[in-house]
Amino acid sequence: MEIIIQPSPEIATTVADRMLARLIREKPAATLGLATGGTMEPLYRELVAMNLDWSRLTTFNLDEYVGLAPGHSQSYHTFMRENLFAHVNIPKQNVNIPDGLTKNIPKFCATYEKRIQAAGGIDLQMLGIGTNGHIGFNEPLSSLASRTRIKTLSPKTRQDNARFFRPGEEAPSHCITMGIGTILESKHCLLLAFGKHKARIIAQAVEGPVTSMNPASALQLHPKVTVCLDAAAASELKLKEYCRWVFDHKPGWQKS
Ligand code: F6R
Repeated sequence: MEIIIQPSPEIATTVADRMLARLIREKPAATLGLATGGTMEPLYRELVAMNLDWSRLTTFNLDEYVGLAPGHSQSYHTFMRENLFAHVNIPKQNVNIPDGLTKNIPKFCATYEKRIQAAGGIDLQMLGIGTNGHIGFNEPLSSLASRTRIKTLSPKTRQDNARFFRPGEEAPSHCITMGIGTILESKHCLLLAFGKHKARIIAQAVEGPVTSMNPASALQLHPKVTVCLDAAAASELKLKEYCRWVFDHKPGWQKS
């Protein structure tokens, strides 16, 4: 696991954007796994400004709320359209986001998994992390072998996400999410976390035991994970100085 610590979220975002841009230039028909959430907004803004060619890319989003129509202001379809897809030249048919209104969730999830495989698997999976350690919406106690499926959101996640919904509007209780097993099959995972409120869970995910109580800790089992942090999110890492030294002394041939 490579831990990259930058002084600010802005600089850490730029490091992550450069990695994404490099993949898109080197492999124009790559398959990207995408996330939503506040952490991703500046990342997508910067990516859009890079004017890359998205015409041959395929994307798979991690998750969507059950019960929200694609046009709902808080659906992840809307988030992706507003923050990314409306501004790049990706063909509509190359975009995959779980359908929150599907009548047959198990069948939809099985098809989603097959579509990922048919696309050749995910080359780069973008990940944020919840304050309870979730990646995608794999809440604590999710099976580390789980596949795309319905999940019940934890009270903590519903509380964290309530800020996006209008007063009086209830945050959804269920979602469809790629599983941890699905995420671990991506060729490269890129996790971003910024802010003091993520420091404890990041330290546990990176330096603690692998446990379903902190789903992000499963990334320790993956051969290629990059974690981009700002100084605040890295503040509780015991090995933060070592991580900084490693990054600053990376041999030229390894630099991206
Ligand atoms: C969203 C997702 C979630 C978020 C996480 C962090 O598609 O998969 O795991 O990445 O909840 O959200 P923010 O970035 O808003 O702190």
